[in-house]
Amino acid sequence: LTTWNKFFNFRQTLELITFTDHIRKSYKSILKECLELKEYNSKFCHEELAKSIVGYLGLILSRHSSYNANLCWWEPTGERTFNVFGRQALPMVWDYTEQNPFGISTGNIESQIEITTGILNDLMKVSKKDETRRGSISITNASATSLPYVNNFFDAVLTDPPYYDNVHYADLSDFFYVWLKRAVGNLFPDIFATPLTPKAEEIIASRHRHKNSEAAKDFFEKKLTEAFKEVYRVLKPDGIAIIVYAHKTTAGWETLLNSLINSGLVVTASWPIHTEMKTRLVASETASLASSIYMVCRKIPKKQVGFLSDITVDLEESIQKDLERFWNTNIKGGDFFISAIGPAMKVFSIYKHIEKFDGTLIGIDELLSIIRSISTNFIVNKLLDLKSSSIIDKQSQFYLMYRWTYSSKSVKFDDARKIASAFGIDLDQLWGKYGFVKKKGSIISLLGPKERKIEKDSTLIVDIAHTSVLLWEKGKRNELEEILTKSGQKNNSSFWIFCQAIAESLEESNKEKKTLRRIFNE
Ligand SMILES: C[S@@+](CC[C@H](N)C(=O)[O-])C[C@H]1O[C@@H](n2cnc3c(N)ncnc32)[C@H](O)[C@@H]1O
Repeated sequence: LTTWNKFFNFRQTLELITFTDHIRKSYKSILKECLELKEYNSKFCHEELAKSIVGYLGLILSRHSSYNANLCWWEPTGERTFNVFGRQALPMVWDYTEQNPFGISTGNIESQIEITTGILNDLMKVSKKDETRRGSISITNASATSLPYVNNFFDAVLTDPPYYDNVHYADLSDFFYVWLKRAVGNLFPDIFATPLTPKAEEIIASRHRHKNSEAAKDFFEKKLTEAFKEVYRVLKPDGIAIIVYAHKTTAGWETLLNSLINSGLVVTASWPIHTEMKTRLVASETASLASSIYMVCRKIPKKQVGFLSDITVDLEESIQKDLERFWNTNIKGGDFFISAIGPAMKVFSIYKHIEKFDGTLIGIDELLSIIRSISTNFIVNKLLDLKSSSIIDKQSQFYLMYRWTYSSKSVKFDDARKIASAFGIDLDQLWGKYGFVKKKGSIISLLGPKERKIEKDSTLIVDIAHTSVLLWEKGKRNELEEILTKSGQKNNSSFWIFCQAIAESLEESNKEKKTLRRIFNE
């Protein structure tokens, strides 16, 4: 699929071209009607009104195009056509559904008109009800890396920058752009000047635009730093900036935090807020996050140098309270680690540099690993008791931590490796003949009892737990009793606490969970 027209069959193309043609031609008659609105014209410009109306017609058509393309698929539960962007990427579909644009299916032209006018009506209601929200809004189309405003201009800047490599906005926007440009490009020549959307200044870590993923990461960090420096510049000295961010990988966070620190902004508060939809397609198989982190930043003068030893102590003290709060509000899994980053930023973003006493500079990666080990300790001590966390082997603690964080989902190698290193173990020790880790390319998942081989007489707690699950399921109660007695686990409360914690970390439907529960109920 090398050009955008290939996403539509001939009938769909004919339909969209016909609408495009009518929208272009409608401008003249709409302009004429607008001119007749005497009351309106005493205050406003009829040409602007006509342009807006035709602009909305263009948006209606471009929305509809995503419901009538050859990447639309049939969603059987809702018995409807699913639009191209079920996830923020172009999907691969085996076959597609095609709808009658004048029919009654979701996404037909009429429904798009209803949605669009519905939003406009709601916005108008808000501004009618609330005097304070009435007034003019100025929207500027510019790159965040060079904002067309003077220094110290804004009381507040709220921004939701791209999340590293999550979404290729500009590439995906071209799907709509090609229709919009044809339908309304002549009315908005400055917005549609380029053949496709501009890409050079887009702040994403896109591997296909750079030599490799390292170069993509560098580009993202450089551009994001430029954007945050602009935020710093245009913000009043006592102004407030709020930056929203979410990414499940540490690489994604490293770049954001470096950019933020280098911009001069200081984080003064942070909140994890549940923003992502559980039903998003990407949320179903690989680990994904439910929360975004809202970081509140200010233009406070920075201190020159912070020493790692002091900061580590400060981090431990200040994060604990926040971790306790996150735990009590039931923030779970990957979200928990990510949530800890905000409070930690409060501690170290006040320094320009962080060093060891011998002058070695400390990078964000090292700070993130400190945060990770503080959070890991906190969670292990919550899931197991203090005695158990000191006697249970580190490999089994890793198994538990992975299950608590990601359940049975898979993650990128680097993220699993970082959890393992918080326990002082190498991930590559955990796969192989008797391992419980599976590596497929750069993706890691954990193997349950039935998916792996267990070494005979292994003393790892996780191996004994898995052996117990298998024996129970085969109904071999005597053998189970024997193994638990021989390994000394039968009356070891830590073993049972471990099994319970594993069971609690797995999804309801998981077989390992169900069997573990049955074993300790007996
Ligand atoms: C996380 S999204 C924001 C989503 C928005 N909060 C919403 O709910 O629709 C990040 C946005 O940053 C935009 N973006 C990327 N590079 C940019 C740049 N250099 N200047 C301005 N915006 C940019 C992307 O196009 C994308 O729309």
